[in-house]
Amino acid sequence: MSNPNTKLTVTTDGDGKSLQLPLMTGTIGPQVADLRKLYDSLGVFTFDPGYGSTASCQSHITYIDGDAGVLLYRGYPIEQLAEKSSFLEVAYLLMNGELPNAAEKEEFDLGVMRHTMIHEQLRSFYNGFRRDAHPMAVMCGVVGAMSAFYHDTLDFKNPDHRRIATFRLIAKVPTIAAWAYKYSIGEPFMYPKNSLGYAENFLHMLNAVPAEDYKVNPVLARALDRIFILHADHEQNASTSTVRLAGSTGANPFACIAAGIASLWGPAHGGANEAVLKMLAEIGSVERIPDFIAKVKDKNSNARLMGFGHRVYKNYDPRAKIMQNTCHEVLKELGITDDPMLDMAMEMERIALSDDYFIQRKLYPNVDFYSGIILKAMGIPTSMFTVLFAVARTVGWVSQWREQVEDPGQRIGRPRQLYVGPALRDYVSLSDRG
Ligand code: ACO
Repeated sequence: MSNPNTKLTVTTDGDGKSLQLPLMTGTIGPQVADLRKLYDSLGVFTFDPGYGSTASCQSHITYIDGDAGVLLYRGYPIEQLAEKSSFLEVAYLLMNGELPNAAEKEEFDLGVMRHTMIHEQLRSFYNGFRRDAHPMAVMCGVVGAMSAFYHDTLDFKNPDHRRIATFRLIAKVPTIAAWAYKYSIGEPFMYPKNSLGYAENFLHMLNAVPAEDYKVNPVLARALDRIFILHADHEQNASTSTVRLAGSTGANPFACIAAGIASLWGPAHGGANEAVLKMLAEIGSVERIPDFIAKVKDKNSNARLMGFGHRVYKNYDPRAKIMQNTCHEVLKELGITDDPMLDMAMEMERIALSDDYFIQRKLYPNVDFYSGIILKAMGIPTSMFTVLFAVARTVGWVSQWREQVEDPGQRIGRPRQLYVGPALRDYVSLSDRG
């Protein structure tokens, strides 16, 4: 909301025109200058590639204090939710703003779990992909194709459509993801089992085969549920902003989430946990870490310490701490007493956190630094890491999408630019060009 007593004054040099911009104050966090009248009044745009200083929307969902290393979902600290809540309860919280009571929780869980199967005809989409397709490519394709199957929930203006589309997305994305994996290894698709919990069901669809009984390890299911909670939302990151931008055009929810999945795929975003394991494998041993750190610090090399650094966190990512503890729990449960990858990761963290290069730039481990080690220990292949992230983040995307389309003040997203190309010139016919 705007505070009439605080304003930011902007003056243009040339004609000395000035404008007082109202400063908006949120519940917590820095004030935000309201620039909406800037262009009409002064004829200037703002320049902020990467949006480091730009609040693109007003949101009630997630709050991050990057300097203090704080992450809140609807006001609740991530540490408390990771310890005491469950992924579906967090999904309810993100979508509805409050924790559910017992009856609301039961109805919500049932609502999600009864939508877990996908249209049988969607199965045939898988056969169109090469077996060696990256599962994220399959995710983009099959989630996008949902728009062609669920015509009864495509109208973003209809609250019932929005509600059911949301349930469908949260419920079906794990099935689509597990089948992408099964397809890549040539095993039969496993149908969901609605009597299982959300993470449990996902592990079942990923690991079970029709020929044998399969019992999901409860410690691993709990660890995966926690990983899902940690990845559920993260305010206006690249993929969420992509979903909001697509949503601002009135595109249907399935198309918007497919756009989010595409955006998440990049190694600077959701692809980082996969990149961490590749990096650790390339380094190979604890002895070679100092050489790698030297390479990362060398301006002439493009190497980065994957799983380190964050646009918003300039402190330890609170999710990374929980991830590190979960990593120890999972390895203990699996009887892995000595994991070379974990040894390397911990040594790398120790060296980096005491190195001036990383200290000065406030580079700390992010959520992805340990998640890859946990997932690998659980037997989940590297190519599926970002897919798991997409499964969890679907909850954040649909919550943000719903908040946006339900905001009466929402407009199509349309950034401006600083044009530095040629000025107006006349077309030269081919015969006259030198
Ligand atoms: N390793 C080494 N140096 C780094 C790293 C890193 N991981 N990250 C940033 N830096 C350095 C940059 O070289 C730059 O140094 P300089 O000032 O001397 O030029 C400085 O720190 C600032 O870096 P930027 O790229 O400007 O920071 P930005 O906020 O744009 O990037 C990002 C954030 C993309 C996450 C970056 O830190 C990175 O590439 N990290 C590795 C990939 C990663 O782990 N991504 C996961 C993010 S979390 C998520 O999506 C769930």
